[in-house]
Amino acid sequence: MSQPSSHIPDTLAEEDPTITLGGRILQSRYFLAPLAGYTHLAFRTAMRELGGLGLATTDLVLATHLISESKKSMELVATTPADKPLTVQIYSGVIEHLVKAAHWLEDHGYEAIDINMGCPMAKINSQGGGARMMCDTSGACEVVKSVIDAVDLPVSVKMRLGWDSETITAPELAKAFEEIGVAAITVHGRTRAQGFHGHVDLDGIRAVKEAVYQIPVVGNGDVLTVENALRMREVTGCDAVAIGRGAMMDPWIFRNLERVIMQGKEPIEPTGEEKIQFLIRHFTLMTEQHDDYSCVLFRKFAGWYGAKLGIPEDLENRLRQFESVDEFHEIVTQIKERQGERESWIPTNMIRVPNGPVERW
Ligand SMILES: Cc1cc2nc3c(=O)[nH]c(=O)nc-3n(C[C@H](O)[C@H](O)[C@H](O)COP(=O)(O)O)c2cc1C
Repeated sequence: MSQPSSHIPDTLAEEDPTITLGGRILQSRYFLAPLAGYTHLAFRTAMRELGGLGLATTDLVLATHLISESKKSMELVATTPADKPLTVQIYSGVIEHLVKAAHWLEDHGYEAIDINMGCPMAKINSQGGGARMMCDTSGACEVVKSVIDAVDLPVSVKMRLGWDSETITAPELAKAFEEIGVAAITVHGRTRAQGFHGHVDLDGIRAVKEAVYQIPVVGNGDVLTVENALRMREVTGCDAVAIGRGAMMDPWIFRNLERVIMQGKEPIEPTGEEKIQFLIRHFTLMTEQHDDYSCVLFRKFAGWYGAKLGIPEDLENRLRQFESVDEFHEIVTQIKERQGERESWIPTNMIRVPNGPVERW
């Protein structure tokens, strides 16, 4: 019998498909990585309904905004009972702010906290947050330990390999973080200097996995397919994988991973009808949170849906400009009627990443 193209590596074939992370038992080892501006409540919920998603994390939330309960931060941490398991990601260069934000999350019934040490953006790094924290191991440990000591919630850290190729600090940090009680580490296999350029360094992620004793290491970066995810697990030895842009391009990736791993079957492409239902569901969930403002918020997804669903260009353009819920449904009716007019294709660069020299981000 021929081997299916996405066969499970021997090292993964026998493992428990669930994973315990900070005391939470997660049903899958494949997580949604945060993509600020995209992975909001509506998108997370729609994706969870497709199946196979082990854990989602909110967009990064500035600690001071959370403490002051700014409108924007309340939108970012908005959740529902269906939006579980969920981790809230916070950032700040100021310990007291992170500690207060952690208290706020605990007091408001959230399950887990992630500290962002990976963000390459200058405005975040200049405040001492994001990837900047990776440059000072003892300082980073002081910050993380203060948060761990302040709350009973599990605290994880998301980081990059280091500031640049000369300063690969992730293994040393991961080891130190484990000693002070961090629940898990997510590592994006690029340095801050790389931004989103070049390729993910799987050996770099492996070095992080090898540096820790037992806490889960979640590999991240450039996973676009089931094969990519399995390869990341196999090559790096990581315990789980966080998928960001690949999940935007293919929200069915988690369902397919479950299919391949649990049932030993090949991944399947969703039907045209399933794709349209997902589009409708995503928008409908958005309106539950944002009412008519969803028409504006949804526009940035037009290009992605246009590609994925093979929406004729004139209708994709209308999705970029529609102004009412009725108009959305009118467009969807036409999308259904005109299915097959344009080929569906895989969008590889629909999600904007910062451009130009990383120093100027
Ligand atoms: C538009 C965009 C927004 C992002 N927002 C966040 C964020 O809020 N928090 C975070 O830790 N990482 C953020 N990231 C980084 C991703 O979580 C992830 O580490 C990175 O995109 C590599 O994984 P991928 O190739 O699977 O997307 C963002 C990335 C992009 C492209």
